[in-house]
Amino acid sequence: MAKRKKRVTRPANDAAPSLPPITPGLLSPPRRVPADIERPPYASTGDPGPSISDLRRTPDELSAMRRTGAKAAEILLRAGELVAPGITTDAIDEFVHQACIDAGGYPSPLNYRGFPKSVCTSVNEVICHGIPDSRPLADGDIINIDVTLFCEGVHGDTSTTFLVGDVDDASRRLVRETARSLDLAITAVKPGGLVNEIGKAIENHARQHRLGVVREFIGHGVGTEFHTNLQIPHYYERRLQARIEPMMSFTIEPMLTLGEPHAALWDDDWTAVTIDGTRTAQFEHTLVMTDEGAERLTITAAGDCAHDHVAAMIA
Ligand code: MF3
Ligand code: CO
Ligand code: CO
Repeated sequence: MAKRKKRVTRPANDAAPSLPPITPGLLSPPRRVPADIERPPYASTGDPGPSISDLRRTPDELSAMRRTGAKAAEILLRAGELVAPGITTDAIDEFVHQACIDAGGYPSPLNYRGFPKSVCTSVNEVICHGIPDSRPLADGDIINIDVTLFCEGVHGDTSTTFLVGDVDDASRRLVRETARSLDLAITAVKPGGLVNEIGKAIENHARQHRLGVVREFIGHGVGTEFHTNLQIPHYYERRLQARIEPMMSFTIEPMLTLGEPHAALWDDDWTAVTIDGTRTAQFEHTLVMTDEGAERLTITAAGDCAHDHVAAMIA
């Protein structure tokens, strides 16, 4: 019998751009946070320690998360307005760092497990946790900016993928459907419902659009701690029987890929890239479960967010 030819799954490569891969740039000197800003416990040591917080918020914590979430959403919106060919990711870091301080808070990524900067900037094939550096954005890039603000004792964690100048159709489709997968997941999860409904909704949507779902990085409980023990996979995990109860606070942050969703880590131990070099997009909200369903906490006081601005550009 003839050897069965192994079928290679090819990405839906509708004109994937052939830009050079992202390479590490230079880091600027460390940025400082004024002494009067309240810091999370890991700020000096880098070590958040084991998670000990409840998965649910108290009413006071929830009020604080609404205010902090709105500030984080505002900072992300304004960071997105800087996105243009020629600006470095370090300049975005400088802006977000100062905006967090001006909002009376601490930029949560700074020294979290030793992360050297105040925001994550993930360009093109970088899946997440890109470190801001001297690389200027190029026309045609896509960039995820992931802002987390610590203020009033709680974190607000939100990210959007922005378009840089003139972006190819495949990347626009990737960005659009990744944003939609987050929206679908938010409506899919019900009070007292299974956590795995989130991943089911995202994976179904990705499959319909022939996009990959990253499995190595997942959403998480968030509140007084940056990352709690609550795990939110973005793929369907049948055996996961955990439920989301009212007052639980968490993120959903799907990372979808044009090609294979497998990740490799740079030598900096942070920057995660697709192994096949194809592009990837991510959108993230911090949410709280209410009796009615999941409510977004990372929206501005006016009720909008950077996601909607980007989505409107590529609808
Ligand atoms: N904001 C990221 C998340 O969504 C975490 C970044 S951790 C850092 O969970 F150290 F890289 F900042
Ligand atoms: Co997060
Ligand atoms: Co984040």
